[in-house]
Amino acid sequence: MTRSSLSIVAGYALGNLITEGKTKKVYEILQSPDEVLIISKDRITAGDGTKAHVLEGKAAISTQTTSKVFEILNSVGIKTSFIKVVNETAFIARKCEMVPIEWVTRRLATGSFLRRYPGVPEGYKFNPPLQETFFKDDANHDPQWAQEQIISAGFNLNGVTIAKDEVDIMRRCTLLVFEVLEKAWASQDCCLVDMKIEFGIDSKGEILVSDVIDSDSWRLWPSGDKKLMKDKQVYRNLSNVTLSDLDTVKRNFKWVAEQLESLTPPTTGLVVILMGSPSDEEHCRKIEKECHKLNVPSQLRVTSAHKGTEDTLNILAEYEGSNKKVVLIAVAGRSNGLGPVLSGNSVYPVINCPPVKTDNVSQDIWSSVNTPTGLGCTTVIHPSAAAIAAAQILALSDHLIWSRLRTLAFNNYVSLKRADKIIRTTPMQ
Ligand SMILES: Nc1ncnc2c1ncn2[C@@H]1O[C@H](COP(=O)(O)OP(=O)(O)O)[C@@H](O)[C@H]1O
Ligand SMILES: [Mg+2]
Repeated sequence: MTRSSLSIVAGYALGNLITEGKTKKVYEILQSPDEVLIISKDRITAGDGTKAHVLEGKAAISTQTTSKVFEILNSVGIKTSFIKVVNETAFIARKCEMVPIEWVTRRLATGSFLRRYPGVPEGYKFNPPLQETFFKDDANHDPQWAQEQIISAGFNLNGVTIAKDEVDIMRRCTLLVFEVLEKAWASQDCCLVDMKIEFGIDSKGEILVSDVIDSDSWRLWPSGDKKLMKDKQVYRNLSNVTLSDLDTVKRNFKWVAEQLESLTPPTTGLVVILMGSPSDEEHCRKIEKECHKLNVPSQLRVTSAHKGTEDTLNILAEYEGSNKKVVLIAVAGRSNGLGPVLSGNSVYPVINCPPVKTDNVSQDIWSSVNTPTGLGCTTVIHPSAAAIAAAQILALSDHLIWSRLRTLAFNNYVSLKRADKIIRTTPMQ
């Protein structure tokens, strides 16, 4: 480690230069031992560093891109090392010991995959996406590694041994990150062809998506057309690099950074939770809380289709007159008139979530389930199921909600794996 010549950057007193790679420098921050400052360089490289050029402005574009991508990942609940951007070319991240593996996901076959597997046509679609791992070793051109090699290497990083569980979690998280960004780019009619990410382990032993994700990390084909590619492949393909070529590469990178700003529009979705009586509030608040966890806007209303039919229809008309994408959740005990009345008078999806009591479940549930023909309302019992079902409907046209649901499923997977690890290593009591 070398003592940095810089002392203060964006108000942060820097400690040692922890590492310097091809495209960035990582510094300790004196006041925050668990954080680092990552400063991007105006440098573009390819072929494990054999091809390299100065590209003025690249550091700023790269920082803008990486911070926007990580903000998206953080906002949908994925654990990353990114904390915040502090100036045009630097951001703060949690200090990690890095897993020296590049985790690659491919939706379409192209590039090195075609060279390794002759006979597969370019554009072959992987469903599910193909996952590959490469050991970060420039001198040996980043050899492809099987998971058995990663496990056998026995990496120990911040006290965590990278064994099968950790590899499983990172592989699944890699897929999650790819799918989240694939959906985000699809909203701008761009095909995320493939990408690579890295993981780090922080001082608490948490596995975090780390390093950077920028135009160097992926292939991006607008309208799915390779000829329109906007990623670093343009640079890799150049044999004689002219100033005008470098300018094209930079304009592409800038275009990507600007497009990213449009990937997070505010949601137009709304879940309206209607209760037949104020006595149903507790049940409805549970649904509201679950919606909030998924960052899905919700609103509570009280209306009885039996006792105030006109008001119920007026409330419905209020939402039908809005430009929101609305899902209705009907909460009514005993005989549920509310859900079926809403469903029979609207095209909005209606989910019944009756607050059933254990002693009358079988009678009460029938009014929600056995509805007249022409109605399409569905029924769930648990408040969280109602919120998830509503979010899933909104997710069809809102990639951020889709991503939060996908992250929820990933977190459930991780919790089960953790529980299994604890139970299988706990001795009989
Ligand atoms: N949050 C972090 N904490 C510690 N090191 C990091 C963090 N994020 C990235 N790094 C490391 O910073 C180094 C410099 O990055 P880079 O210039 O891309 O290097 P390389 O050429 O090895 O890919 C890499 O070794 C990377 O793993
Ligand atoms: Mg790198």
